[in-house]
Amino acid sequence: MTPPVTTLEETAAAYKQASEKAARRVVICGGTGCIANGALDVFEAFVEQVATAGLKVAVEFNEHTDRGSVLVSMSGCQGFCQMGPLVTVEPDGVLYTRVRPEDVAEIVEATLVRGEVVDRLLYVDPVAHTPCKGTAQIPFYQRQTRTVLAGCGIMDPEDIREYIANDGYVAARRAFTELKPETICEEITLSGIRGRGGGGFPTGRKWELTRIQPESKKYVICNGDEGDPGAFMDRSVMEGAPHRVIEGMMIAARAIGADEGYVYVRAEYPLAVARMKKAVEDARAMGILGDNVFGTGLKLELHVMEGAGAFVCGEETALIASIEGHRGMPSPKPPFPAQSGLWGKPTVINNVETLATIPLILNMGAAEFRRRGTEKSPGTKTFALTGHVANTGLIEVPFGTTLREIIFDIGGGITRKDGSIDPEGFKAVQIGGPSGGCLTEEHLDLPLDFDSLRGVGAMVGSGGLVAMNRNTCMVAMARFFMQFTQNESCGKCVLCREGTKQMLALLDDIVEGRADQGTLDILEKLAVAVQKGSLCGLGKTAPNPVLSTLRHFRAEYEAHVFQKRCPAGKCKALLTPEIDAQLCKGCGLCLRTCPVGAISGERKQPHVIDPAKCIKCGACVAACKFNAISGAIS
Ligand SMILES: Cc1cc2nc3c(=O)[nH]c(=O)nc-3n(C[C@H](O)[C@H](O)[C@H](O)COP(=O)(O)O)c2cc1C
Ligand code: SF4
Ligand code: SF4
Ligand code: FES
Repeated sequence: MTPPVTTLEETAAAYKQASEKAARRVVICGGTGCIANGALDVFEAFVEQVATAGLKVAVEFNEHTDRGSVLVSMSGCQGFCQMGPLVTVEPDGVLYTRVRPEDVAEIVEATLVRGEVVDRLLYVDPVAHTPCKGTAQIPFYQRQTRTVLAGCGIMDPEDIREYIANDGYVAARRAFTELKPETICEEITLSGIRGRGGGGFPTGRKWELTRIQPESKKYVICNGDEGDPGAFMDRSVMEGAPHRVIEGMMIAARAIGADEGYVYVRAEYPLAVARMKKAVEDARAMGILGDNVFGTGLKLELHVMEGAGAFVCGEETALIASIEGHRGMPSPKPPFPAQSGLWGKPTVINNVETLATIPLILNMGAAEFRRRGTEKSPGTKTFALTGHVANTGLIEVPFGTTLREIIFDIGGGITRKDGSIDPEGFKAVQIGGPSGGCLTEEHLDLPLDFDSLRGVGAMVGSGGLVAMNRNTCMVAMARFFMQFTQNESCGKCVLCREGTKQMLALLDDIVEGRADQGTLDILEKLAVAVQKGSLCGLGKTAPNPVLSTLRHFRAEYEAHVFQKRCPAGKCKALLTPEIDAQLCKGCGLCLRTCPVGAISGERKQPHVIDPAKCIKCGACVAACKFNAISGAIS
C-alpha cells in the first residue's frame, strides 16, 4: 500500500509548533564514542532527574508536549569524542564534557532550575587554561566550517520531522518534481564536487556517464564500508545525519534514473546500520521513498545492507560483488560501474560524505558551494583527527586549510607522552590511512586538497589524520600500515598478495636489526612494483606509507639499518638498556623487578645489566626512581 503523502511544510510546521513549547533542550551525544562511555545512562539519568526536580520532561516534540517542558534528546556524534559523554543545554549554549550519571542531578538543579553553569564540567582550553562555556568558545569548534556535519550533534537523528523542519528533503523534492535529470547532473558538475571516498573523482561526471546509459534499470549505492583504521567520518555522518545521506541518494537516483539503491554499511557499525534502517523506514512511511515519491508516481526503494567487514569490500567493484552475494573481490575496470555495475546494470556508487553534501549543493547552488574550498577541490572535508594532539575527534574544514591550522588551531597542538603540550614536539602527520602518506614540518603550510596531497606523495584517502610527536618511530608506523594492508589483501593478484607480505618481512628485518643496504633497495623496488602491478586501489596504494616515509624520513630508516639504532627509542630489538653508574643509587628496585634476572649488583653500589640475558621489556626503566636506566621502552 502506498503511504499517504504528507507535505514537508505540514510536517515542519507541526514540529516547530511542538518545539516552541519546550523551555529547554538537553542534547546528549548519542554517537558511538559517547555511548561507549556511558551516554545512555546519562540520558536515563536526565529523564529521571528532570522529573524529580519537578520539571516537565519530554523525550520527543509532539502535539502532547507540555508548554515549558524540558526536552531530553540524543544526537549523533558532536565530534569531540575524546571529551564525551557530551551534554549540551539549549538555549543556554552550555556544553558539558565527560558527564557521568552522578553529575546529572547537579546539572538539573544548577542549570535547568537556577540557570547557572556547573563550572567543573566545562571544557578547559589546554593552551589558555580557561574554561569554555560552549562550542562558541572552544577553539576545536571555532576554527571549523561545519556544513555536512552541521546537524550532527544537534538534531535527533532518529526523528525525521526534525530533519524536515530544518529544510530536509526540500532538495530531493525539487529533484523529483521540478528538475530534469540532466539539469541535476549539470548542477553537480558545475559545483565541482569530487568524491570524498578517497579518489576525488568528479561526482557530476560519474552521474552523467550513468545517466546516459540506455538501460532502464539502474542502481544507486552508498558506500558506507569505511574500513580504514582510525577513520570514523562516514560512520558519524550515518549515525548523526542519516536522512541527509538518504536525501543525497534520492537526488543521485533521480539524476541517473535509478529506482533502487543500497546503503552498504560495515557490520561493525551497528548504530549506523540501525539509524540508516530507521531513517529509510520513516522516509518510506511518509511517502518520501517508495512507489510514489513525493506523489510523482516515480519509484525509489532503498535497502540497507550490512557489509562483511573486509577493507577491500570498500573498493567499488568488490562492494558490488558483495551485494550480489559473491566474495568481495575487485574486478578490472573498465567496464566501470557506471556502465555495468550491480547485476550488470548501470550503477552510481558514492561515498557517504559525498552523498550527504549533495542536498547542500542543490539548496545553496553550485556557485555558492564553490565559494568554499579551493578551485579544483571545492567544498569542505571531514577528517578524523587522532594521535598526539590535545583535541582529537571528528572535524570538518574547507579544502585548502593547512595542516598547521588543523593540528595547532583545531587540534590544540602536539602533546607529550603525559598529555601536556609540547610546542616543539611536531614530528609528522600521517594522512589518508593505509593509502596515504606521511608529511613533515615542511608541509605544515601546504593547503590541503586532492591534488596538493598527491603532489607530495600522500592522499586525502579516507580522511584519517594522525598527528605524531617526536617519540614516534616512522619505520614502525609504516610497518603498522603494511601489516594492515597485508592482512587485508584479497589475494587475487600476486603482486599485492605476495608483494605486501615480502614488504612486511623487509620492514620486520629493519625494525629487528637484520637489515642491510640490500633490504632498503629491495623494499623500494618492491614498493614500486606493487604500486604498478596491483589490480585495485588497495594494492596500488599499499606502498604509499612506506614510500612517503622513505622519502621524508630516510635518515630514520638508515639509523635502523646501519647503526642498528631506533632514534625514537621505540623498536624493541634495537634497544640496549644500560644503567648509568653515576645516577644509580644501588637501591635494587630494578634487580627485583627484572623478570629474567639480567640485573646484578650489590646494595648501594651501581648495578649492571647483562645484555645477553635482557629481553628488553623495559620493566627496570619503569621501576627506577632515579632515571638511571636508558635505552629501553619505558
Ligand atoms: C581498498 C579500497 C577501500 C575503499 N574503501 C572505501 C570506503 O570505505 N568508502 C568509500 O566511500 N570509498 C572507498 N573506496 C573508494 C571506492 O572504491 C569508490 O571510489 C568510492 O566509494 C566512490 O565514491 P566517491 O566518488 O563519492 O568518492 C575504497 C577503495 C579501495 C581501493
Ligand atoms: S590489489 Fe590486492 S586487494 Fe586488490 S585485487 Fe589485487 S590482491 Fe586483491
Ligand atoms: S629491560 Fe627487562 S629484562 Fe632487561 S634488564 Fe630491564 S627488566 Fe631486565
Ligand atoms: S560520539 Fe560523542 S562526540 Fe563523538
